[in-house]
Amino acid sequence: MVSAVLWHAAAHAQNFPPEQYKFGADTYARHCAPCHGARMKNPEGAFDLPTFPKDEKERFVRSVSKGKNSMPPWAGLLKPEEIEALWAYVYTGDQ
Ligand code: HEC
Repeated sequence: MVSAVLWHAAAHAQNFPPEQYKFGADTYARHCAPCHGARMKNPEGAFDLPTFPKDEKERFVRSVSKGKNSMPPWAGLLKPEEIEALWAYVYTGDQ
């Protein structure tokens, strides 16, 4: 049973736990939606997050932590696990 669960986790490495996804969606709504649009829709001047490349997690973490041009840095405000959860949300897309 345990090995079946582990196999499942490995085979679906990009399936984030639902709690993490939910945490990311909440964090997004609080901090990111004002610029990137509610539920990642209508970002106006900001980056259209559903188009962010899924193989560039490091870039995501770096840009979010340090900021980019008119996006402020978030490292002082968000914990690493919040940034991880945001990645789960952006990677998966709004559901
Ligand atoms: C004050 C408005 C604002 C807020 C709030 C904001 N962003 Fe941004 N964000 C921007 C703008 C503007 C850009 C485009 C930066 C550029 O490329 O010039 C951007 C770009 C990005 C990018 C793309 C960076 C890249 O490498 O090209 C990501 C990812 C991102 N934001 C994630 C987030 C997340 C996650 C949050 C919430 C923690 C957030 N943003 C909050 C304005 C904002």
